Amino acid sequence: MNAKKDAKQTFTLTDNRSGQKYELPVVSGSMGPDVIDVRRLYNDTNCFTYDPGFTSTGSCGSKITYIDGDNGVLLYRGYPVDQLADNSDFPEVCYLLLYGELPTPDQKKKFEHDITYHTMLNEQLTYFFRGFRRDAHPMAVMCGVVGALSAFYHDSTDISDPKHRMIASYRLIAKMPTIAAMAYKFSMGQPFQYPLNDLTFAENFLHMMFGTPCEEYKVSPVLSKAIDRILILHADHEQNASTSTVRLAGSSGANPFACISAGIASLWGPAHGGANEAVLNMLEEIGDAKNIPEYVDRAKKKDDPFRLMGFGHRVYKNFDPRAKVMEKICHEVLNDLKIEDEPLLDIAVELERIALEDDYFIEKKLYPNVDFYSGIIFKALGIPTSLFTVLFAVARTVGWVAQWNEMIEDPSQKIGRPRQLYIGETARKFKPLHKRI
Ligand code: SDX
Repeated sequence: MNAKKDAKQTFTLTDNRSGQKYELPVVSGSMGPDVIDVRRLYNDTNCFTYDPGFTSTGSCGSKITYIDGDNGVLLYRGYPVDQLADNSDFPEVCYLLLYGELPTPDQKKKFEHDITYHTMLNEQLTYFFRGFRRDAHPMAVMCGVVGALSAFYHDSTDISDPKHRMIASYRLIAKMPTIAAMAYKFSMGQPFQYPLNDLTFAENFLHMMFGTPCEEYKVSPVLSKAIDRILILHADHEQNASTSTVRLAGSSGANPFACISAGIASLWGPAHGGANEAVLNMLEEIGDAKNIPEYVDRAKKKDDPFRLMGFGHRVYKNFDPRAKVMEKICHEVLNDLKIEDEPLLDIAVELERIALEDDYFIEKKLYPNVDFYSGIIFKALGIPTSLFTVLFAVARTVGWVAQWNEMIEDPSQKIGRPRQLYIGETARKFKPLHKRI
């Protein structure tokens, strides 16, 4: 970690049981909260910190993404995400996240070429899909097929070699849309569509998803622009659950394909990336704006597991800046597709209005997050609900591989191995079966 370390800044910790005082270094980053460096705490005090869910724990130093949850700020390598969504494109943002700077025209051209020429899958991989039922959830297929990439690319799994790491990173970014589209085609019983090298990243995804051998598929510029911006908004997000999963898996030296497969598994959960699918299912269950008060009441009840999906966030205690851009894209896509009547959007807008005026949501600082509007957009784009989180994984792969590379290159990095507060049985003698009456 090469954050600015000011030796004068310390935290004094007093153990009131013994009166012992400990000086813990405080380290400042370039932005955001300072950290108390507790790496020596156990050694000096024989105590662990205790932080289930890591609500107050920084796991690493990172230069990639910065979030200010109180002010709804999200920066990729210092650039506000809304400026990137409005002015850049996904391949350019991939370059930015991987290398730390926006590419020059020549760098951009070469990067797009290199990614394009990694979009095809080894033909053997197409047989993996046949091992699944046609109605398998596409996220299960993604976990399996992406993990299986480890079996194909032994020429890029020496994680100590920066060249291997970058080839593996390019392969993962490039092949995710191909695998995602194949998972969809397999579920539809339609033939796989191969990537076309003269299409952009977003155009290729739509072509592989909706093209057929029977006629030329004309990619809609409206849809590809919407997909491109949505990919940008989902590309990275600091140390969220799936990124932390990728970092922890990678800290053992596991190959990048297996690490990304672990990230996909974590993203699948409805509390995380699976929320976009859960939001649409929730809006369909609500069915009519007149039912909203009942669901808002349920979301507030402690004994009711129901939560308003697409609301709330561990970090954002203000609007998720991505949600605002997603809402804009949602209205643009519906207008461009001349979808005048989208009842789910009417319910979503009314649900947001009611929730944001409700004391419970105000007090707990629960705002719409990135997943709240994405499902309505994906539905309008013709993407099936079960594929919403797959699209999130396609976008987040660049964030995962950028964070994975940063972790491997971090000289202070060790294998991740948290400890615990043990609350189980104290040591006891074995009881033979005949005595366990
Ligand atoms: C993503 O981490 C990331 O950055 C993730 C992500 C990314 O880009 O990688 O941003 C993507 O995962 C967005 C979040 C998508 N998930 C959802 O929309 C699911 C619904 N949201 C919740 O499950 C919840 O808000 C979380 C999981 C997102 C955050 O949970 P936290 O930080 O652990 O907060 P919490 O559960 O402790 O909630 C604080 C309080 C609780 O009440 P009390 O126990 O204090 O009384 O707020 C309540 C919660 O019950 N609460 C909700 C709620 N979310 C939190 N109540 C009703 N509806 C909700 N959605």
